[in-house]
Amino acid sequence: MEKLVVTGPTRLTGEVTISGAKNAAVALLPATLLIDGVCTIENLPNISDIKISCEILEKLGAKITWNSKHSITIDTTNITTTKAPLDLTSKFRASYYLIGAMLGRKGEIEVGMPGGCKLGARPIDQHIKGFEALGANVTVEKGKIYGKADKLVGCPIYMDIVSVGATINVMLAAVLAKGTTTIDNAAKEPHIVDVANFLNTMGADIRGAGTDVIKINGVEKLHGNATYSVVPDQIEAGTFMLAAIATKGDLTLKNCITKHLESITAKIIEVGGNVEDYGDSIRVWMDKRPNKANIKTLPYPGFPTDLQPQMGVVLSLGNGNSIINESIWESRFQYTEELNRMGAKITAQGKTAFFEGVEKLYGAPVYSSDLRAGAALVIAGTAAEGITEIYNLQHIDRGYENIEEKFRKIGANIERVTEE
Ligand code: UD1
Repeated sequence: MEKLVVTGPTRLTGEVTISGAKNAAVALLPATLLIDGVCTIENLPNISDIKISCEILEKLGAKITWNSKHSITIDTTNITTTKAPLDLTSKFRASYYLIGAMLGRKGEIEVGMPGGCKLGARPIDQHIKGFEALGANVTVEKGKIYGKADKLVGCPIYMDIVSVGATINVMLAAVLAKGTTTIDNAAKEPHIVDVANFLNTMGADIRGAGTDVIKINGVEKLHGNATYSVVPDQIEAGTFMLAAIATKGDLTLKNCITKHLESITAKIIEVGGNVEDYGDSIRVWMDKRPNKANIKTLPYPGFPTDLQPQMGVVLSLGNGNSIINESIWESRFQYTEELNRMGAKITAQGKTAFFEGVEKLYGAPVYSSDLRAGAALVIAGTAAEGITEIYNLQHIDRGYENIEEKFRKIGANIERVTEE
């Protein structure tokens, strides 16, 4: 078993280069199934979710050449099966994008129920509603999803809930459909714009991504023969911004889009942090104990739920009492128990957590319950006095490229250790 051993406290300082966005990349890879040809994707994060996505595509018949650690050329000319491998698709959430992409490409898909972080109920009713509106028949039976469509026909679709996954998935299914699809009440996250930009580069006709109405004019074919670079990871950037605040550090983040970071910047300023915005890089520093603040997670452009645990570390060290209201995932406060082992004073109930700020955290053995909780524990361990051992690293490795190397480069005393 592997664990991360972090010895703190350390003030993190220096530069971090932000990787390509996990949540964009895990959608772009299935999106290549819509292309009858070859394309190259660059700035891919080197994380386990991407390796698994590539393995799934290969099992479906795609040919993948790794040009470097962060770039692949993918040939989806010959897709030979519509059955996605269950053992691989159950390992992460974004395997649900195979449904939209394969319905578009082959009119058929059989895939296991998606896995991923256990953040509470994660229904896919809005995805299914969208596919069925386009003319597909989707059934869920014994842990498998079956989708079939003789023909997909564009139509207006209203999302009852703002859902990142459903917006992207329906967009994928609509790209090769006959006629025009409009998605109303669409999610607006940066990775939705990225997937639309990618598909448009390959010949799709998608307008309005990044607003709450997306219009997709179906096209006959996507041509491929293009290179696309994944958008910088908003959540990884936010993670390091909050790491700078929690450790009273001074970090400059390169390769980010600061427009995507505005909700985080606003909260950092509210807790007394400093930010210098250069458009494609950002400097964040802190020279005192954070002020208290209240947070409510919301769909983009609100404060992202995927940065809630990292912000929780900052508020656990705040000067006063803070409240976080989690409006997206019902089980996203599992990390608070781990922070409490480290000396934090947090009471979580339902979708609300109350933070009584403490002056210091202390090292302890802790367990990462999910991906972003794991990142929060790395930040906490760096800020805390003493030794923190973090277990369940498979969650962190799904979404952060070389987390310990990136933290080590900015001064953290962190090591990956294999334990019998
Ligand atoms: C994506 C992200 C995840 C992030 C989340 C919210 C990926 C791979 N994952 O997850 O990291 O935390 O967005 O920003 O991009 N819902 C329904 N029915 C549906 C779909 C969703 O009720 O059919 C609900 C969910 O239970 C949740 C809310 O809508 O309460 C938002 O979920 P959604 O945006 O779909 O999250 P994911 O796409 O799964």
